[in-house]
Amino acid sequence: MVQRLTEPHFALRRFPTIPGNSHPDMMFTATSLNHDGASGTIVIEKDLHEWRPQQPGEVRSPCPALNTLANHGYLPRDGKQLNHSIITRALEEGYGLSGVLSHILVIGGIALLGQAGSFALDDLARHNRIEHDASLVHDDTKARDEYAPTAPDSTLVNQFLAQAKDGHFMTIEDVAKARVWRESQCPVLNHLHAEIARGEMAIALGLFSQLDSDKQGIPVDMLRVWLSEERLPSDWKPTHTQGLLETIRTSWKIYNDMKIFEDKGDNITPDERGSRVSNVFGHRYLVSFILLTFLFVAITYWV
Ligand code: HEM
Repeated sequence: MVQRLTEPHFALRRFPTIPGNSHPDMMFTATSLNHDGASGTIVIEKDLHEWRPQQPGEVRSPCPALNTLANHGYLPRDGKQLNHSIITRALEEGYGLSGVLSHILVIGGIALLGQAGSFALDDLARHNRIEHDASLVHDDTKARDEYAPTAPDSTLVNQFLAQAKDGHFMTIEDVAKARVWRESQCPVLNHLHAEIARGEMAIALGLFSQLDSDKQGIPVDMLRVWLSEERLPSDWKPTHTQGLLETIRTSWKIYNDMKIFEDKGDNITPDERGSRVSNVFGHRYLVSFILLTFLFVAITYWV
């Protein structure tokens, strides 16, 4: 909620704006009014990053991570007029992603999107660019539609969360099983999209998994809030810098577990055994993608 206050007895404690981002929603967002009895002034505490879901006229993407950043004001809350630097800064501030990882995600994403100039969150729903079939919590794009649904599907959310074997924590193995199951329901994903699909959850596992507990994985309640309300779990703050290598390692583990489930024939129909999970050479696409992105960043800085 943007506050427009004109009364003289209000003293605004203005938080610094985020450098390079002058979007109006990011300047004044009040969550509480504190009355300072001594001076008789009212100090407005500002929480730039309070959660506020999508409002009429605002747009969202099929990505829970980016929508959450918009709902918390790390991205413009209307989801519009985005560019490379706005998104990388939001990923670093909101989730603690490393510079390298956020640059690779954003430059790679923009290259796949193939759209010149600024773009909006709903542009990311364009089918078969970054967006792909077999999403965990979003329906596939309907035949002849150009854009995929951006709202999470509550049935898919429940089905996905039900994959947590112990009912409390979503582990790498549970994610792999869910991916095999979803990929069994649509035409085979190409290698790049299969890689992207594993990478999306690899980052989420890195961000939200409990580190100091003997239980591995993301607490299911936390994951439900993030996926269905597109909201950061309460009191959650990045605990570490999520880097590229860690993400690749987790993605590999998801891949290997998917192979095991596939070989066992779990979660897929019998005639699909042995053909569903993209083979190891699919990783060539990821490596080429990362190398090309590095090249692009290097050229941009040097020229
Ligand atoms: C912290 C970083 C990120 C995380 C943790 C993340 C996580 C996710 C997850 C878990 C999904 C899958 C949703 C589902 O299966 O239903 C997803 C989908 C998607 N993400 Fe992200 N994402 C991140 C950054 C980005 C960036 C930087 C972009 C583009 C610039 C992006 C674009 C997309 C798109 C287009 C989809 C839809 C793919 C599909 O069809 O499922 N994401 N993301």
